[in-house]
Amino acid sequence: MDTQFKRKSTTTIFGCVFALFLPKICFAEKICTVPSEPVTIKENNTVDTVVVQINTTTKDVTLNLTENPGNAFELRGSELIAKKGLDFETLSGPEELTVQVRCNKTGYRSITLIVIVRVENINDNPPLFVQSEYTLNVNELTPVNTSIGLIEAIDDDSEVLYYSMEPTVNRYFRLETMYTPNILVNKVLDYDVVQQVKLILYAQDTPLPSQPEERSFTATATITVNIKDIDNRPPWFQPCTRVTIGNAKICLSLGYKGRVNLTEKQDGALQLQPGPVYARDGDKSRNEEISYKIVRGNEDNIFQIDENSGNISMLKPADIAGPISLLVLASQVLNRDQFATTSVTIDVMKKSRNPPRFEKERYEGYVYSNSGPENMVLRDRTSNRPFRVRARDEDFASGINPDIRYEVQYSSYVNITTDGFILLKKAVRTDSFALQLRAVDVSTGESGTAALSVIVLPSVGVQSTDEGYRAGDMALLGFVMAALLVLCLIVIGYLISRVKKGNQDAFKLSEVSIFSSKLSESSSECPLCKRTEA
Ligand SMILES: *[C@@H]1O[C@H](CO)[C@@H](O)[C@H](O)[C@H]1NC(C)=O
Ligand SMILES: *[C@@H]1O[C@H](CO)[C@@H](O)[C@H](O)[C@H]1NC(C)=O
Ligand SMILES: *[C@@H]1O[C@H](CO)[C@@H](O)[C@H](O)[C@H]1NC(C)=O
Ligand SMILES: *[C@@H]1O[C@H](CO)[C@@H](O)[C@H](O)[C@H]1NC(C)=O
Ligand SMILES: *[C@@H]1O[C@H](CO)[C@@H](O)[C@H](O)[C@H]1NC(C)=O
Ligand SMILES: *[C@@H]1O[C@H](CO)[C@@H](O)[C@H](O)[C@H]1NC(C)=O
Ligand SMILES: *[C@@H]1O[C@H](CO)[C@@H](O)[C@H](O)[C@H]1NC(C)=O
Ligand SMILES: *[C@@H]1O[C@H](CO)[C@@H](O)[C@H](O)[C@H]1NC(C)=O
Repeated sequence: MDTQFKRKSTTTIFGCVFALFLPKICFAEKICTVPSEPVTIKENNTVDTVVVQINTTTKDVTLNLTENPGNAFELRGSELIAKKGLDFETLSGPEELTVQVRCNKTGYRSITLIVIVRVENINDNPPLFVQSEYTLNVNELTPVNTSIGLIEAIDDDSEVLYYSMEPTVNRYFRLETMYTPNILVNKVLDYDVVQQVKLILYAQDTPLPSQPEERSFTATATITVNIKDIDNRPPWFQPCTRVTIGNAKICLSLGYKGRVNLTEKQDGALQLQPGPVYARDGDKSRNEEISYKIVRGNEDNIFQIDENSGNISMLKPADIAGPISLLVLASQVLNRDQFATTSVTIDVMKKSRNPPRFEKERYEGYVYSNSGPENMVLRDRTSNRPFRVRARDEDFASGINPDIRYEVQYSSYVNITTDGFILLKKAVRTDSFALQLRAVDVSTGESGTAALSVIVLPSVGVQSTDEGYRAGDMALLGFVMAALLVLCLIVIGYLISRVKKGNQDAFKLSEVSIFSSKLSESSSECPLCKRTEA
């Protein structure tokens, strides 16, 4: 029966067919009517809203609600009203609510009115994140574009939400798209540089940027991303020099050096330079446990290394002088694939009773002021023989220790050759300089010193070419001077003979003395003549 009355047209046809035979029943059709179109009302704020007015043609019609979805409707007189707020999000099938009202009147056929109510969705719910704070973990060196998490908000009104994330500049992470809050790695993370990143994720239920007249809600979640130090680096021997190659950081150690005496077993850990053998995990925060091992160079089992501390000690004395080169391995205990090696060079020194000693405590040497690089320091002022030092070692019958090396200290002017000759490195600008010579026995480390003063002599004229004169010029000058002298003597002799002849002419004699004094004056003023004297 109800279904037959679902549409007014059906009702009318049905009613009028009966009207031919049962006029009473056909009249019953008119006791109440409602608009046939679906009624649309907006959700929210719908309490007491009149949904529809039921027109009754006669009095004493009883109206009963026979279908009341969500118990949301009520009859007030002849008005169908919304009893409570209609919430699009909580109603099932809010797009089409069917409300049925039955009209009874004694003597009339009761009819059922059908009111279709459409609840319109409005944006009245904010998006929501399940938590306000999230914590994510990501390994350093995770490849770009890897997802570290999907954090979605939910919104009862909106199917599409618009996401954005801060910070927006120089970011380590980004969103996959504005619609999918999939957080992706945006650039490779290095634990040494960044250990934690704080992000703020926004979800908005209207497109960004929001229009001022549009109702819009936003939700916020803070995300803490902890970057985990992964085991990507081997142990690093300390001290070391950091080098960056692309994204990789490595730390280079130059190795360790030590010294023991020949045929002597030293007790305890060997003292090494620049410090004890020590390696630290290159992944600073992991700081994995490291163990040590000598992998090469210890074939005679002279040395042993403490697996945990790296201390090297002696098991027996070394009986051959010279360096022993050990290859030491440091590896992570839990991951032996992460390892590093370094060299430990231990010099076995010969026993010595006497240090090297120079033949004299102080020496004197000479150079010319115009000497330059590679010129030798000379032994004396007169000869051109080179200066040479020698250090003796009384441990040797001949006094000659082949392990002696010479060094110059406290002077930048000179260097010393292996044979003990002193070479100038540059032109000298002082009158003299002093320095210390050192003779080191490299097999024992013992040394002796001596002082050397170097006196700078004025340069030899003939050696210089720019301001002096050539030998030919000087010879010519000497010849001219000699000729002048002879002329003078002739004149003087002539004058003396004149005086002897008759001394009456004293006036002339004085002239001669003036002339000769003038001659000597001019010769002493002449710079050329001075130079000749020198
Ligand atoms: C109900 O009655 C009013 C006048 O009383 C009329 O304007 C309206 O159209 C009627 N509604 C229906 C559905 O007949
Ligand atoms: C129908 O509605 C009247 C009041 O209008 C009420 O008294 C009566 O109990 C209702 N009947 C049913 C079956 O709901
Ligand atoms: C209206 O009619 C129905 C049957 O069509 C009946 O069940 C109901 O009790 C009647 N209501 C009134 C108030 O007469
Ligand atoms: C929904 O109704 C509540 C109170 O009834 C009101 O505060 C809120 O602003 C309404 N929302 C919308 C979108 O109209
Ligand atoms: C990451 O994804 C973006 C776009 O999806 C692409 O342009 C870029 O080349 C990708 N980068 C890498 C390293 O795969
Ligand atoms: C070697 O012997 C010398 C003296 O003979 C001593 O001074 C020195 O400390 C010894 N070196 C080591 C490493 O034992
Ligand atoms: C290693 O040697 C140092 C001295 O060089 C000492 O202080 C330390 O205790 C030693 N460690 C072990 C485990 O022997
Ligand atoms: C000094 O000479 C030696 C060779 O005799 C050389 O090895 C050394 O580098 C020189 N030093 C300087 C500072 O020139």
